[in-house]
Amino acid sequence: MDLKVLPVDRRPIGVFDSGLGGLTVARAIAEALPYESIYYVGDTHRCPYGVRTEDEVRAYTLQAGNWLVERGVKIIVIACNTATASALKDAQRVFQVPVIGVIAPGARAAVHTTRTRRVGVLATNLTIRSGAYTRAIHSIDAGVEVYGCPASAFVEVVEDALASGDRLNQDWHSDEGVFMTPAVRALAGQILQPLEGNDIDTVVLGCTHFPLLAAPIREALGEGVRVVSSAEETTLELTETLRRREQLAGSDALPRHRFATTSEDLASFAVAGSFIFGKPLRSIEHIELGELERLQP
Ligand code: DGL
Repeated sequence: MDLKVLPVDRRPIGVFDSGLGGLTVARAIAEALPYESIYYVGDTHRCPYGVRTEDEVRAYTLQAGNWLVERGVKIIVIACNTATASALKDAQRVFQVPVIGVIAPGARAAVHTTRTRRVGVLATNLTIRSGAYTRAIHSIDAGVEVYGCPASAFVEVVEDALASGDRLNQDWHSDEGVFMTPAVRALAGQILQPLEGNDIDTVVLGCTHFPLLAAPIREALGEGVRVVSSAEETTLELTETLRRREQLAGSDALPRHRFATTSEDLASFAVAGSFIFGKPLRSIEHIELGELERLQP
């Protein structure tokens, strides 16, 4: 009998974010592709990206991408909307491995969900300013009305709460309740107010930090508005890309996840990261900024 042996590729999937938020995407990947290894880079020291210039974000993203390529990843997922908006095209041109962003998948999730064809986009100030979501949504359905809502203030809330380690569930199961504080609920009401009265039925979380704030965001938007994020849709695109390229790890592979951060405080990264990733981050390394800066392509 002729048993065809399928090719396998055990190299890790590179995942990059400005900080901890991209772990929401890494978690979705680890859950959907349990045999794959992940190499995650969080540029926590230079986070937030959403209030920086496009040039800065492009440079940082290419540095991190290069770092991952040097470590032999087979594909890169830019698990940060801000970095996707500023640097996806450049990264795709520069790197030999495929690069996937989160904006096209997020746009797809929104377009497939909306019935009123009126969609709100909640993202960092830089992502909104770039117009990347509007372009991505219109490339699928030019008739959808898009309402951008700049919300960089949410990123600080998430990074600060996670850095303090306060109220994090020690069972490593991220619990939306952690962010249901009076201050965050009030901030959500204030930030989301411009979206009111536009007959929006779908809001896309255009920042990978925001799924952690899904509970206060849903509460502020009220019933009847569906909240979608790009994590699952990005994972589908990643799976399909690896499958067609015959680069899946194979079902007898033992996954090994590694995490790297520019933060000096590895202990806080471990606590907050484990909370978001849903299980302990066992292998965490520090990256010196100087090391990244030397990797500018
Ligand atoms: N997680 C990033 C994103 O998806 C934004 C956070 C930041 O401002 O650095 O846009």
